[in-house]
Amino acid sequence: MDTFVINGGRRLSGRVRVNGSKNAALPVCAAALLTDGEVTLRDVPDLADLRNMYRLLGELGCEVVRGERGGGSGGGGGGVVKTGARDQALCHARYEVVKTMRASICTLGPLVAKRGHGRVSMPGGCAIGDRPVDLHLRGLAALGCEITLEAGDIVARAPKGGLRGATVFLGGPFGSTVLGTANVMSAAVLARGTTVIESAACEPEIVDLARMLSGMGAKISGAGSPRLVIEGVKELSGVEHAVMPDRIEAGTLILASAITNGEVTVENCPVDSLLAALDRFSAMGIGVSAEGQAKDPNRVTVRVTCERVIRPVEVTTQPHPGFPTDLQAQLMSVLTLADGNSVITERIFPERFLHVAELSRMGARLFRQGPTVIVSGVKELIGAPVMASDLRASAGLVLAGLAARGTTTVHRVYHLDRGYEQLEARLNALGADIRRVDDENLAKPTVSGEG
Ligand code: EPZ
Repeated sequence: MDTFVINGGRRLSGRVRVNGSKNAALPVCAAALLTDGEVTLRDVPDLADLRNMYRLLGELGCEVVRGERGGGSGGGGGGVVKTGARDQALCHARYEVVKTMRASICTLGPLVAKRGHGRVSMPGGCAIGDRPVDLHLRGLAALGCEITLEAGDIVARAPKGGLRGATVFLGGPFGSTVLGTANVMSAAVLARGTTVIESAACEPEIVDLARMLSGMGAKISGAGSPRLVIEGVKELSGVEHAVMPDRIEAGTLILASAITNGEVTVENCPVDSLLAALDRFSAMGIGVSAEGQAKDPNRVTVRVTCERVIRPVEVTTQPHPGFPTDLQAQLMSVLTLADGNSVITERIFPERFLHVAELSRMGARLFRQGPTVIVSGVKELIGAPVMASDLRASAGLVLAGLAARGTTTVHRVYHLDRGYEQLEARLNALGADIRRVDDENLAKPTVSGEG
């Protein structure tokens, strides 16, 4: 397994570009199942999760051709072309694929809408929580799906005559569901009649998916609001779609600049999708100012500066437009060096704190009480061996390593590769000192006596 060896204490400076969004690209790829036409996607990041999605689409009878890099409208990652499904009889998203990427669940809605049935392995939990899919199933059942659980697989069958429009409430104990909204919206576009999704997710990635579906001929209104209205149509055409920039990667890069007290210019930054995060960053003393006039508020070049001393803040993660849970770990790393006590409350995944113990190993002073962590700022972090546990916790540990005195080794960085493309190369281009090594080549720690 790969490990990052990070020599900390180096200020970042220079220019970096935000890639296309993983969390927009995944449901967008799944929605390509809704048409026999050709779907060309631009600005798709080259990530492990996307490669797993292409493998899944292949097993579902599609042909996926990976285009060259740089073909995107944003000039970002490569294109992906999915030609029409070669074999519509292949409708089983197997456990072996789903266990590596739980977002596979968002193929269920398109499968049952287009082919009348779909079989997707029930996604398991993960390091950040149980990750139930009851809201997904509530929405699909409201459209007339007969849903059964067979040997660990969710089997969904459309009624004779196909899915029918309905009104469904998708709110759960932690707010709405992003992929659940994507699943139900992607099914409703081919249902007979009108569907109203109340308490829909408002995330920008849902807006991006709605934009792609509309380009295929779907009739959707209210995307980005808690109330989605979809008028079903008979069929959808192929489309060419550029995936929105990754707001979580952008926030991570801004925080990487800040934690090193650097001055980094971030290109292709989706400012309009990051307002809650930018509000907190500003309160901390992190300045993010646009360079020139951007035509698209979600593709802005910004300059990041940071006051010498980071100010403590209170942050509670919320569904969009609130502070995104996917930036919580990265923010915590920065706040460990703030001048005072901060309070972080996690309202989406109350167990999303596996990075707390690892940051404490680096000298951070953190006190967890249930879904809340008090972060008592320290003067410096000390480099240490730490273990990555999930995608965003890994990013938080890398940021801590950038600022720490001495060397930090972040183990199991395969978690990071799921959501950040060549992160170490891009940070090194800004002045970081990160080496990716195979665990085998790491100096074996001297075996200490049992203590
Ligand atoms: C998406 O996951 C993102 N993943 C997550 O990003 C992100 O953290 C999450 O949304 C919240 O913003 C992708 O888009 C691929 P949810 P999703 O359904 O859709 C509960 C990352 O790091 N819930 O919005 O699976 C759930 O347990 C990843 O990039 C139900 O109770 O999340 C959670 O508490 C991690 N029943 C809350 O809702 C359901 O049926 C929000 O989950 C579904 C969800």
